[in-house]
Amino acid sequence: MEARRGLFLLMIFMMIKGKEEAQLMENFYSSSSPGVEAVVKQAVSTKFSQKFTTIPATLLLFFHDSFVMGCDASIMVSSPNGDAGKDAPDNLSLAGDGFDTIVKAKEAVEAQCPNAVSCADIMAIAARDVAVLAGGPSFSVELGRRDGLISQSSLVAGNLPETNFTLALLDTIFAKNNLSQIDMIALSGAHTVGFSHCNRFADRLYSFSPSSPVDPSLDPNYAKQLMNACPQNVDPRLP
Ligand code: HEM
Repeated sequence: MEARRGLFLLMIFMMIKGKEEAQLMENFYSSSSPGVEAVVKQAVSTKFSQKFTTIPATLLLFFHDSFVMGCDASIMVSSPNGDAGKDAPDNLSLAGDGFDTIVKAKEAVEAQCPNAVSCADIMAIAARDVAVLAGGPSFSVELGRRDGLISQSSLVAGNLPETNFTLALLDTIFAKNNLSQIDMIALSGAHTVGFSHCNRFADRLYSFSPSSPVDPSLDPNYAKQLMNACPQNVDPRLP
């Protein structure tokens, strides 16, 4: 009986300890790499001055990373077999500038304090920095994420929202990530920047239903603008 109680207490202790170890905090790198946020900010600003698409590309990259096994930078992993997370169909249209932003920031951080800062934290800081560059408010980022060791294309499917999802499905996929409907609505504000490829919504312009090729829930003028931008016989990969 005593041994069992001892084991139970040990498990509780380990759970609490485990929780403590997983705790993120603002000053996580105060002794190991105190300047990390400034270094990332500089790298992100430099990249932004070269390519405006740095903003949407970095934001979407962080979102797609975070919804598959948490914010662990596993989307940055390459596989010689083409079967890493970044190779999943849902990730193929991610803009190269997002990856490049993180690589540049990581290089800058490593030059200052090698092997101290996780790529996952660099992604989180960079996502905040591009939100600020876009004119959004600044906020503190809690740090201490660990980089994931697993990155598999097959693990992506079913974890990212698709364009044809109902509100209930969207709610479910965000709830899986501990995010409420209100969080989802706020985060969808990220679509203020960036673009979509024509093939993501062309069905709503040309083949919605036999009686109404254009989705009647679309504002007709907006639908016309989209049709001009996305003619029917254009390369569907074009933005
Ligand atoms: C609510 C569910 C969401 C759906 C169904 C959705 C869907 C999409 C789709 C279809 C695109 C176009 C992608 C392409 O053509 O390559 C897109 C772009 C984008 N999404 Fe979302 N998204 C959602 C939530 C989010 C969230 C939570 C964020 C970030 C906080 C986000 C950030 C972006 C950004 C920045 C772009 C533009 C990317 C670029 O221009 O490179 N989205 N989204």
